[in-house]
Amino acid sequence: MTAVEPRPASASSSAAIGDWAYFEGAVVPIGDATVSIATQSFNYGTSVFEGIRAYRQDDGSTALLFGLEHYQRLLRNARLLRSSVPESGQALVEITRDLIRRNEHPGDVYIRPIIYKSAPSIRVQLTDLHDRIGIFTMPMGDYLPTGGIRVTVSGWQRVSDNAIPARGKIAGSYVNAALAAEDAHAAGYDDALLLTSDGHVAEASAANVFLVFGREIATPPLTDDVLAGITRAAIMQIARDAGFDVVERRIDRSELYLADEVFLTGTGVQVAPIASIDDRPVGSPASPTSFDLQRRYFAAVRGTDPRYAHWLTPITGAPA
Ligand SMILES: Cc1ncc(COP(=O)(O)O)c(C=O)c1O
Repeated sequence: MTAVEPRPASASSSAAIGDWAYFEGAVVPIGDATVSIATQSFNYGTSVFEGIRAYRQDDGSTALLFGLEHYQRLLRNARLLRSSVPESGQALVEITRDLIRRNEHPGDVYIRPIIYKSAPSIRVQLTDLHDRIGIFTMPMGDYLPTGGIRVTVSGWQRVSDNAIPARGKIAGSYVNAALAAEDAHAAGYDDALLLTSDGHVAEASAANVFLVFGREIATPPLTDDVLAGITRAAIMQIARDAGFDVVERRIDRSELYLADEVFLTGTGVQVAPIASIDDRPVGSPASPTSFDLQRRYFAAVRGTDPRYAHWLTPITGAPA
């Protein structure tokens, strides 16, 4: 048998992840924020998580985008898995601000909070399994290209609300997203769009979808197995402020190929115009509405449009 060198207890597995994490109620070195392979959530995907961004502002400072909204969604979704943690949403915002100050990432930051069942257990259940929350941070630029992406409609169906609720941001349901994204990448596409089990458009692997028809912008309703995206709501607000009619309605697959433009939204994805779907060009020649909304979104998140300043929480001062 080959001898395997033991790893030092505090070794971080990824250089990009911030040096400090929130774990078991304290800020600790990232290498110490580890769980056992027997952890129930590691075995069964019984975690809920969030993805939050902090953007470098035009004035050089950093600000958290929709921090409280993300933590409120996390704590609400935790109820689906009968999970709860003692930290309040506001306390988690403060912990996150502290982590970002400590980790000193030079540019934009991505924050990953996760509520999980920490008990070492193989019991397939949800209660009495020691709910905990962990938070780590990392630098993040564009998750997908923002200059026009190629997507495909996946053969994998979006997991339905009666199976694993998409609105729950439940770790286990991301197997569905990963299967679709992986196949799309292997076939040369940037991402996949998934349909509901009755064949209507749901969302992309990690983003909501919008279709543009002249001055009307349509997006699937929350009852079509989509996450109630915080960026989705922000873009609906920005589009209405810009004079567009925004509607939530069921969307047929063929509308994807016939729309004037199609774009994705999400915390990671930001606003990503789509250049083609299943090799059919969309948004020809230049997706003007999608890029206009993208420009407005970046102005909001970088603090240059005062109408949306209340979306941002400044990160100033020294770590606690
Ligand atoms: C499946 C899915 N849909 C939509 C979104 C977009 O949600 P939000 O704008 O809240 O980040 C995400 C975000 O990660 C996602 O995972």
